[in-house]
Amino acid sequence: MKIKKIETDKKIYLGLLLLADEQEDMVDRYLERGTMYVLEDNGVKAECVVTDEGGGVLELKNIAVEPEFQGRGYGKALVEFLIQTYIGQYTVLQVGTGDSPTTIPFYEACGFCRHHLVKNFFIDYYDHPIYECGVQLVDMVYLQRKL
Ligand SMILES: CC(C)(COP(=O)(O)OP(=O)(O)OC[C@H]1O[C@@H](n2cnc3c(N)ncnc32)[C@H](O)[C@@H]1OP(=O)(O)O)[C@@H](O)C(=O)NCCC(=O)NCCS
Repeated sequence: MKIKKIETDKKIYLGLLLLADEQEDMVDRYLERGTMYVLEDNGVKAECVVTDEGGGVLELKNIAVEPEFQGRGYGKALVEFLIQTYIGQYTVLQVGTGDSPTTIPFYEACGFCRHHLVKNFFIDYYDHPIYECGVQLVDMVYLQRKL
């Protein structure tokens, strides 16, 4: 398994990016200023993007694993890689997500705890309703873990 930083042509991985954030103009809000990593294990299996939010906060803006390879530890391996890479450089690793039963347990398994909500984020910033597991996402849930 190899994790490498992607400096150019990040949109090559748009298919994976849209798995985590289905509206492309929302991805465009952070992709260029973000640092992108791709996990390779007999081909590309997963990616993530992190941004410097100031005040010692590193934010995980996007993380996705190829659907047929989910549940095999690749997502957690990327989070562990981020922790090892940025420990000592930032104080907190933060992530914002919908209140979804598919993502919150993953972040909790990676050591994140619920921190705060941004009310109506998915209504105010997306041009169409976002559903996960049949439930419309409304508020953005922020989770954090110490670095
Ligand atoms: C969410 C995602 C990145 C997780 O990556 P993954 O490789 O499937 O997860 P892992 O196999 O590394 O799982 C790590 C841990 O989280 C747990 N976990 C992962 N998904 C879970 C789920 N849906 N429900 C409960 N626990 C879950 C695993 O059981 C595992 O726990 P353990 O460490 O105690 O064994 C991946 O499923 C994905 O790409 N989903 C679609 C895109 C997406 O929703 N991205 C997040 C946007 S906020």
